Amino acid sequence: MKILGIETSCDETAASIVENGRTVLSSVISTQIDIHHQYGGVVPELASRNHIEAIVPVVNEAFDNAGLNKNQIDGVSVTQGPGLVGALLVGFTFAKSFAYAQKLPFIGVNHLEGHISSVFLENNSPEFPYVALLVSGGHTSIYYVKSHTEYELMGQTRDDAVGEAYDKVSKMVGYGYPGGKVIDDLAKKGDKKKIKFPRSYLEKNGFDFSFSGLKTSVNRYLKLNENYMEYISDIAAGFQESVIEVLSYKILNAAKIKGCNDIAIVGGVAANSRLREKVTNDAKKYGINVYIPSIEYCGDNAAMIASIGYLYLKKGLTTELNGDVYSRPKVVSGKKHK
Ligand code: KG4
Ligand code: ZN
Repeated sequence: MKILGIETSCDETAASIVENGRTVLSSVISTQIDIHHQYGGVVPELASRNHIEAIVPVVNEAFDNAGLNKNQIDGVSVTQGPGLVGALLVGFTFAKSFAYAQKLPFIGVNHLEGHISSVFLENNSPEFPYVALLVSGGHTSIYYVKSHTEYELMGQTRDDAVGEAYDKVSKMVGYGYPGGKVIDDLAKKGDKKKIKFPRSYLEKNGFDFSFSGLKTSVNRYLKLNENYMEYISDIAAGFQESVIEVLSYKILNAAKIKGCNDIAIVGGVAANSRLREKVTNDAKKYGINVYIPSIEYCGDNAAMIASIGYLYLKKGLTTELNGDVYSRPKVVSGKKHK
């Protein structure tokens, strides 16, 4: 079964064709980073306008790269939410029209479920049940994943998302949006032990996160040390270590408490080199296996949307053509872990 996936929830216009939820036949991502960089963050109005320009060429390229024509797919899957409403509407409306015109099943999916599914685009993938750390620009959460479509939310951030903290720190030191990769690269050249920023564990056995205190602490440090640019890589490394230590501790603790041997790390921040290295090393001590998608499937992409759409379609679950998008996180359901 070949599914066309479409993603337009934020600042990437993406289309992909995936076979049987796992084999990526094509994955095209057109990013708007250069457009938003000058404004220090994503401007929703500009994002929608650029999705409108990009969507048709991006979908055509996905078909060309897969060597398929429009009659050779079995369903259309698209991000329904959460995200920017105007941006979501472009992909959602396009996908609906395409499915209607081609008489194909239509599946509106949750962007977060897409990220969780991204580990299944790789050859080696976790065994159920496993725990997943979802780290992106808008979300930081831990899920207990029971099956492809059943999740239990164990904890989430009470304030900023991890990616947001990276982006804000980058902005503070004048490197702008998006800041994750910039801070990651700077940190590689720095000494992570030179400046110790606070670690915010909240309750040590709980799974909620908080990053706004750390952000404030970095801001205060910069105000007190005028010459900070002389050792900016040490600041980046110190900030990063404070984030990564907490993430690694909490996801491994979640695996221990749930008795899982497998963990997954997904979302844009899963591209972070220190996060990949530290969790992999720490997990070895407990015999836990770590699954992280390749870099191209960490950030927003449409292959993950096609993959989760396939799993819903296989269960016979489709979306009405009069369905609507939603901006705030919902679903990725289950009870909150106590
Ligand atoms: O998943 P994603 O592409 O979009 C959302 O759904 O939010 O994640 C984007 C976020 C941005 O905040 C970006 O700064 C962060 O992921 N990011 C990174 C790295 N690459 C991207 N954060 C830390 N280290 C990286 N290497
Ligand atoms: Zn995302």
